[in-house]
Amino acid sequence: MRIILLGAPGAGKGTQAQFLMNKYGIPQISTGDMLRAAIKEGSALGLAAKQVMDAGQLVSDDLIIGLVKERISKEDCAKGFLLDGFPRTIPQADAMKANGVVVDHVIEFDVPDDVIVERMSGRRVHPASGRVYHVSYNPPKVEGKDDLTGEDLVIREDDKEETVRKRLGIYHEQTELLVGYYRKEAEQGRTQYHHMVGTLPVEQVSAQLEALLG
Ligand code: AP5
Ligand code: ZN
Repeated sequence: MRIILLGAPGAGKGTQAQFLMNKYGIPQISTGDMLRAAIKEGSALGLAAKQVMDAGQLVSDDLIIGLVKERISKEDCAKGFLLDGFPRTIPQADAMKANGVVVDHVIEFDVPDDVIVERMSGRRVHPASGRVYHVSYNPPKVEGKDDLTGEDLVIREDDKEETVRKRLGIYHEQTELLVGYYRKEAEQGRTQYHHMVGTLPVEQVSAQLEALLG
């Protein structure tokens, strides 16, 4: 099963990706997590991406397309994958299509901007696994620690309110166009498009996804 998770920053893509990955045994491909890992390693990719990401802007299409192409050619993606945070622009979506990548489901998480700003202020992440928590809505079992490893949780560099608002602006300008793009793809029978109310509690969104995907 090949799935695209589409939605604004903080809409819950990473949270539901963890659920779907466990449920369906397909890997999560989060371009944001891959870029953060590259920054941590200090690789050339990381150096190129850091300032752009901290400023809440998008990394260049060429760089991201290359990264995803390489990742989905790996063996663990043969049975399917979850794209989290990609594609994010029309050229990225076109590049996938030009490469013959067929996607079974596009799932849009719809969450208003004011809810997002509040969510991001309480987000805590476990960088090594990509697991995501919220101090009130999805708290870890032990404060500040990852449930599975007990390692420290951190606040993302780009979760400052000012940067979140900038990221939301870019989402509305560039990424939201993909809603129309994939609805059209669905009308032409090339994928299935699902609109989800992303403001429901985490477990309810997961239950709806399960009902939808079987
Ligand atoms: P990326 O890491 O992809 O960030 P994003 O898309 O902005 O999304 P987030 O990870 O912030 O949010 P999410 O939807 O995963 O929400 P989450 O589940 O964590 O990208 C970061 C940067 O990398 C970009 O700004 C860009 O610079 C670069 N980049 C990445 N991909 C790129 C690309 N394709 N092209 C160009 N540049 C790219 O949830 C958020 C919070 O809400 C958590 O605290 C969670 O616990 C809580 N929460 C989740 N669901 C619920 C719920 N139902 N109810 C209450 N709380 C909830
Ligand atoms: Zn995420």
